[in-house]
Amino acid sequence: MSEAHWSPNSWRQKPVEQAPIYPDLQALADVEAQLAGFPPLVFAGEARKLKKALAKVANGEAFLLQGGDCAESFGEHSADNIRDFFRVFLQMSVVLTFAAASPVVKIGRIAGQFAKPRSSNTEIIDGVELPSYRGDIINDIAFNSAARIPDPRRQLDAYRQSAATLNLLRAFATGGYANLENAHRWMLGFVKDSPQSGRYDELAARITETLGFMRAIGLDPEAHPEMRSTEFYTSHEALLLGYEQAFTRVDSTSGDPYATSGHMLWVGDRTRQPEGAHIEYMRGIHNPIGLKCGPSLKPDGLLRLMDTLNPTNEAGRLTLICRFGADKVTEHLPALIRAVKAEGRTVVWSCDPMHGNTIKAGSGYKTRPFERIMGEIRHFFAVHQAEGTYAGGVHLEMTGKNVTECTGGARAISDAELHDRYHTYCDPRLNAEQAIEVAFLVAELLKVARTARGTPVWTAAAE
Ligand code: PEP
Ligand code: CO
Repeated sequence: MSEAHWSPNSWRQKPVEQAPIYPDLQALADVEAQLAGFPPLVFAGEARKLKKALAKVANGEAFLLQGGDCAESFGEHSADNIRDFFRVFLQMSVVLTFAAASPVVKIGRIAGQFAKPRSSNTEIIDGVELPSYRGDIINDIAFNSAARIPDPRRQLDAYRQSAATLNLLRAFATGGYANLENAHRWMLGFVKDSPQSGRYDELAARITETLGFMRAIGLDPEAHPEMRSTEFYTSHEALLLGYEQAFTRVDSTSGDPYATSGHMLWVGDRTRQPEGAHIEYMRGIHNPIGLKCGPSLKPDGLLRLMDTLNPTNEAGRLTLICRFGADKVTEHLPALIRAVKAEGRTVVWSCDPMHGNTIKAGSGYKTRPFERIMGEIRHFFAVHQAEGTYAGGVHLEMTGKNVTECTGGARAISDAELHDRYHTYCDPRLNAEQAIEVAFLVAELLKVARTARGTPVWTAAAE
C-alpha cells in the first residue's frame, strides 16, 4: 500500500469509516470546489517548523502540550472563549517550563476541531431515534430530524470560524499578550482565587525575579523574541476527508503536498484501519501527524501503520497519542513501546488521559473522574520510566471556562454538580483549574523523569 501512487483524492478508492451521508451530493461537490479555492489556514513552512520542534520532543529535549475542546462549536465561538483558553494554555506551559525546566511545544485542538467520530450512527432520546450529532461542521446538535441532516454548507462556516479563531490566536501569540512579563496578569479571572493560585503565583514571582536578574546583569529580556511571543500551533482530527482534500495544497518551496487546514492532523482510534481511507489520506501529507492508540491496537498493527505513515522514520513526523484508560495503560503500553524500540523507530509518546476514562455518571451525564485522568498520566510516566523511554507529551480535552464536566479536582466537583455548567458539545473537558492542576502534576513527573535520565535542562534558544 505504501508504495502505491498517492494523490489528495486517492482515499476515495478506500473504505471510509464514520462518513456522513449527505443527501445532496451536488451541493457537497460545489462546497468542496469552493473550499479548494479558499486561502490556506496555515503554511507548509509552519508545519515543517512544528515537525522540527516535535523531533526535539521525540529526543527528550522538549515536552508536548496539546489540548482544547473535544468539539469546537458555532454557538460557543467568541473572543472571550478563545482568550480564556489561550490564557490557561499559557499558564500550563509556564508551569511546565519553570517547574520542570522543559521547553514546551504548544498545540491547540482548535481552529478546525469540528468533526466527531461516533460510536453509534443513531441516538435515542425518550424512544425517539435520530442520526447522531457528528460535529458542527457536519450537522446540528439540536435533537430534531431536520437538524441532524448533514449539510455541506456548514463546512464553509467551519472554515470561516477557523480563520477568525486562528487570526486571534496569532495576534495573542505574537502581539504582546504572551509576553512572559504578563505571567502574573494571566491570573486575572476566576483562577485567581482557585486552589492552585498560590502555587501558580509563586512561579510567576520566580519569573519576575528571573527577568529582573537578567536586566540587572545587563541582558535585556525584551531583546529576545522568546520572551515577547510564543509559537502556538493548531491541530484537529482529520475525519472529514473531503474537507481535508480541499485544503491539501502543494508547497511551492518543497513541491510536497501539505494539509493546510491545521499544522498537525491526527487519525482517530476509530478510523485507523490500515487499508482505510483515513490512513490513505494521512500517508501522503507532509505535516506532523498523530495516531490515536487505544486498547485494540496491537504491536503488529502499530508497526504496519508506522511503515505506511512514516516509512523513512523521520523524527517529528509521528506522535503516538495513547488513550488506553487508567486501568489499562500498564497492560497495553509496554508491548507497543517494546515494538517501537525493537524496530528503532523514533516517535513522540503522548498521553491522552481523557478518552479511555469516560463513564456515565449516576446523574446521566457523561463524565471523567479527575483521579482517573491523573491516574492514567501517572501510569504512563511510570511505564516509560520502566522501559527507559521518554514520556513526551499530554493530549487533553480542556477549556478556559469554569465548566463542571469532569468530576473531582481540587474543588471536588460532584456528580450532582455536573448539571451546573455542563456545556460541552461532545466529551467532558477539564475546566481551567483542573487543567492547571494537571499541569502541576505533569511538571512534577517530568522533573523526576528528567533527573532520572540525567537529561540536561533547557538549552536556551537552541533552534
Ligand atoms: C477525540 O480526540 O476527540 C477522539 C474522538 O478520540 P479517539 O479517536 O481517541 O476516541
Ligand atoms: Co473527545
